[in-house]
Amino acid sequence: MDSEHETMSPGFVKICFLRILIALILGYVLLVFGMSHLHYTWMTQPPIEVMEDVPYGLADSPQFSPDPYTQDTAPKSYTFMNLTGTDFEIDDDFWNKYRFLVGDQGEISGDVMEGFVVAVAASSNHFPQSIDAVQSVQRLFPGKKILYFDWGLESNESDAVSAWCDVELKSFNFSDIRSLHGEIIGESWHYQVAKPFAMAEALRDNAAVLWIDSTARLLSSNIDYVFEVAEGDGGIVFLDKTVQGATKIPPPIYDYLPTNLERSNRKKHVSTGTMFFMKTRLIRERILWWWLLCSNTRTCFFHESLEAHCEVIKDARKNRNMDTGRDCSRVDQSILNILAGNLFHYEWDKYCLESGLGTLFKLSQSNRHTASICP
Ligand SMILES: *[C@@H]1O[C@H](CO)[C@@H](O)[C@H](O)[C@H]1NC(C)=O
Ligand SMILES: *[C@@H]1O[C@H](CO)[C@@H](O)[C@H](O)[C@H]1NC(C)=O
Ligand SMILES: *[C@@H]1O[C@H](CO)[C@@H](O)[C@H](O)[C@H]1NC(C)=O
Repeated sequence: MDSEHETMSPGFVKICFLRILIALILGYVLLVFGMSHLHYTWMTQPPIEVMEDVPYGLADSPQFSPDPYTQDTAPKSYTFMNLTGTDFEIDDDFWNKYRFLVGDQGEISGDVMEGFVVAVAASSNHFPQSIDAVQSVQRLFPGKKILYFDWGLESNESDAVSAWCDVELKSFNFSDIRSLHGEIIGESWHYQVAKPFAMAEALRDNAAVLWIDSTARLLSSNIDYVFEVAEGDGGIVFLDKTVQGATKIPPPIYDYLPTNLERSNRKKHVSTGTMFFMKTRLIRERILWWWLLCSNTRTCFFHESLEAHCEVIKDARKNRNMDTGRDCSRVDQSILNILAGNLFHYEWDKYCLESGLGTLFKLSQSNRHTASICP
């Protein structure tokens, strides 16, 4: 056999084919990686420097300031490593209502598994679906206290809620949120900034809160793992992820809440739809306090360009181009993504139980059930 003949042997053809295949796969992988990298570089446009990776550990040794705080000495600017954000204004009203969030308030007492409450909120247009959310809690956790925040129910709806078993109707006054005063902004912002106020209210008298959106239905009462993760990380767990966290236009948030932009601008973000907060000092002082301050400060979360951007995306959604939905601004998620990400140096598994969706709860707009009414 001459060598030319040999090159045509089936074995050689096979090897050639394999090589081409491998080259194609490699090329594809490089292309995809390159594209996603490009995408993120474009998205990021960092207004601040990108930090080096640092190991997890802040939660182990939080830098709490001397206690007790006064209105003057209360934390006003958020710091992340050596970066300090713009000062927030803490007015008398805010201080009087939320001072319980900062400082050493003593350890939370009692068994968190026993002592947690469930919180849900709805406006009139979400009232029907909220019934199933409440019903799922009543069924799986009989006797568990449910706080239902009235975000604009009709009076016959709030009457109905008041009669539900183990449900406490909580009034909610949007006028108390300073960032909503003045020039009117789109309604979706109102509900986004209201959430930390309801969460703070729920935590005021309770050791821990399981927040569920009106579209969440609990599927299991076996939530020990949620407590384990929360107790292990200092008191917080998100049960679901989302793609709606960061935005393509750098929001003003970053001036107030500096972070590692490279790490915050990734595909996975925490969802605020189902989350568990414990009333530990770490969570009060490193998460909730800043979530509230940013939500109370219009220049922290709002920018006209974000609103316009969001509208464009909504239109795209109508055209069933769901993928672009991720670009719509969700400031509640952006803020928590930054705060929790910073606290745990974006070590995702420390604070997000992605497996929650489908095992612990599901999402649905159904309103097939009736909430049980106490005799
Ligand atoms: C923060 O620290 C890094 C590294 O220690 C340094 O390079 C950077 O200049 C500092 N940034 C600020 C804003 O001080
Ligand atoms: C409240 O009243 C409206 C009409 O006034 C009715 O359509 C709706 O079903 C009522 N809701 C409840 C919960 O009773
Ligand atoms: C809501 O709060 C505003 C000011 O904070 C107050 O003027 C108004 O009376 C309150 N409304 C209700 C229903 O309590």
